[in-house]
Amino acid sequence: MSTRSQWGTRAGFILAAIGSAVGLGNIWRFPTTAFENGGGAFMIPYLVALLTAGIPILIMEFTMGHKYRGSSPLTFKNMNKKTEWVGWWGVLIAFVVSTYYSVIIAWAISYSIFSFNLNWGSDTENFLYNNHLEMVEAGQFGGFVPGVLIPLVIVWLVVLGVLYRGVRKGIEMANRIFIPTLVVVFLLIVIRALTLPGAIEGLNAFFTPDFDAILDGQVWIAAYGQIFFSMSIAFAIMITYSSYLPKKSDITNNAFIVGFGNSSFELLCGIGVFSVLGFMSVQQNVPINEVVDGGIGLAFVAFPQIINEFPALNELFGFLFFASLVLAGMSSLISIIETYVAGLSDKLNISRKKAVLIGGGTAALVSLVFATRGGINFLDAVDYFINQFGIAFIGLVEVVLIAWVLRKLGEFKEHANSVSDIRLGGWWTFSLSVITPIVLGFTMFDLFRKNLLQLFDKPSGNYGGYSDLFVLSSGWLVAAGALIVGIIISLLKWRASKNADEHKTQDTREAK
Ligand code: ALA
Repeated sequence: MSTRSQWGTRAGFILAAIGSAVGLGNIWRFPTTAFENGGGAFMIPYLVALLTAGIPILIMEFTMGHKYRGSSPLTFKNMNKKTEWVGWWGVLIAFVVSTYYSVIIAWAISYSIFSFNLNWGSDTENFLYNNHLEMVEAGQFGGFVPGVLIPLVIVWLVVLGVLYRGVRKGIEMANRIFIPTLVVVFLLIVIRALTLPGAIEGLNAFFTPDFDAILDGQVWIAAYGQIFFSMSIAFAIMITYSSYLPKKSDITNNAFIVGFGNSSFELLCGIGVFSVLGFMSVQQNVPINEVVDGGIGLAFVAFPQIINEFPALNELFGFLFFASLVLAGMSSLISIIETYVAGLSDKLNISRKKAVLIGGGTAALVSLVFATRGGINFLDAVDYFINQFGIAFIGLVEVVLIAWVLRKLGEFKEHANSVSDIRLGGWWTFSLSVITPIVLGFTMFDLFRKNLLQLFDKPSGNYGGYSDLFVLSSGWLVAAGALIVGIIISLLKWRASKNADEHKTQDTREAK
């Protein structure tokens, strides 16, 4: 009899994994990252990263979760006792991401409501930073912003409520509702976007290659970072989700469906976003690169502006866009939190419900920092550093460890082939053991070198202008902290399963 929670159906697992992958990273991050990194030329590093790292790592993580059947820390521990810290490192990165990811969803909830009256007015930038976020100088807290705090509480209540109900009745059921709704809503938006005047100019900007950009290491690291974040790989999520797969489950085919599903949605987002940017550039008669702003700005400054200028049904399209951010964000946030719910439950031998309350409760408290008037500055610095030096870096460490130190790829390949329709060939081993370590290792080294050298003579962060102390404390410390705390937790003892039966019954009951 199974002692772990399980997905109800194959479709349930695939929807949950796609729900995890498709998120703010697709709608909020991808279009800007692509544009800033060479437009159409970004597609080449992006596709290389998808085929040689994204899909191969997804197959590897599905195999690990399925084979070792545990949360990420338990999976790494079961693979080799000495590697438990890698599991915790990923879980802690997920913890940090969840604390600010929830806040962006909270903004999107407010903006779906603002859409009804187009409350943001004509100066959308001023509205975001001064009226909505009431932003103060970097490094200061400045008290809570009620307009962020209230929707944030709602976000936590919904996602923790879903997680509390368990894998099948909570996560699987929520994704069965969220994902089909999201796809329908988003298709409506993209069709509308493509039929706006100026859409073609936008698409030209998106797809016109800038081949110089391909020679820039920064573009490659951005492509790998985007793939890892967007596919929810390298930071514990997909290992956790696949640990709930029944024994007889396809691995490789599922990974292809999830990987290509995610990238197709991502491309759709790029097409939709750039069509409306083209529309805006024609309306305002400004070049398209002046319309585009960084991540937050794109969704919460440029979009409201564009919605103001829509020919008809402005309120409805505003609502649909922000509602799709909320849906996509929530289904991803659930998977991000599940990593530490599962990790805590395994390590402390406590029920899922207790783990949801302890882990989710702690993350909810920490997220309050980002609901203060200075929250956006902390969010910006933490997001930048945890992505560049957290997710891309742990991806490299994971691959090198498994391919070269523990030499597990052969065993994993056999495991995946024994249950999957598609058989893994040499490309899989070659991608993971040669291509990814070389490309990612080289670009990572370059990035570290540049950032360390520049740390004290140039402001960092997405918006720049921050003091060194602020960058050091909010950015570097948090990124390094995830690794250090991960190592410390891995040194603590696992609590013996004195109430293993209770734990088992509960999980088995939930799986029925
Ligand atoms: N994969 C999730 C996203 O793209 C985290 O937002």
